[in-house]
Amino acid sequence: MPLSPPRLGVNIDHVATVRNARGGTLPDPVRAALVAIEAGADGITAHLREDRRHIRDADMERLKAEISKPLNFEMAATDEMLAIALRVKPHAVCLVPEKREERTTEGGLDVVSGEAHLKPYIARLNDAGIRVSLFIAADPAAIDVAHRLKAPVVEFHSGSWCDAITDGHKQQADAEYARIVAGVAQAAALGIEPHIGHGLDYATAEIVSALPQVAELNIGHFLIGEAVFVGLPQAIRTMKAAMAAGRARAQ
Ligand code: PXP
Repeated sequence: MPLSPPRLGVNIDHVATVRNARGGTLPDPVRAALVAIEAGADGITAHLREDRRHIRDADMERLKAEISKPLNFEMAATDEMLAIALRVKPHAVCLVPEKREERTTEGGLDVVSGEAHLKPYIARLNDAGIRVSLFIAADPAAIDVAHRLKAPVVEFHSGSWCDAITDGHKQQADAEYARIVAGVAQAAALGIEPHIGHGLDYATAEIVSALPQVAELNIGHFLIGEAVFVGLPQAIRTMKAAMAAGRARAQ
């Protein structure tokens, strides 16, 4: 039996970034989500940041009401966000670190020193039937903490690996990739579902899709950028084909 490819979660934050550059309502991130699903996205990811720089509260409410595929709500572990998540009731919450001054989510959650802080948030979300994912570096100690915290999912931050490839630092890229491979194996052995996200493009998504335990990739910036040139449906179809090609190599 051939293994099915990982699911593709499409992050639509940057459609909201473009909308917010002009105020107003266009382009509509919910329309992007609907188009993405029509083209084959298996889920939609959106990050409600404390500063609301892209996605807004009303976008989350509309996404939950209007899309037919799972909604993955990215958020920081704060009381404000927990209250919103418990009200919106997305399929999943991905807990991410957040610093106001960063351009994007620059590193994984520090679950080792943040374990006590994260524990009640994960418990409340687990109790509400919302699938919790922790966005972490593929670090053995962090994966052990995720297991202790009863997180059903971890998403490994692939940003450093992708950056090292872009910068032509082959040795560093190989070392980062080896960490991801080991992290995926460790998580799967502990019964945690491994996802991967940040900085992925067609080529890197194809590579990580060859790891058979990887269940989901979350991809935003590259797809929205590609959409400018080829349209969002085509970008998604090409991405899904790359992921299927990668997964075929896992047989
Ligand atoms: N996964 C998580 C947890 C993220 O924070 C982000 C960025 O918002 C992504 C995936 C998507 O990263 P990118 O936009 O670089 O594809």
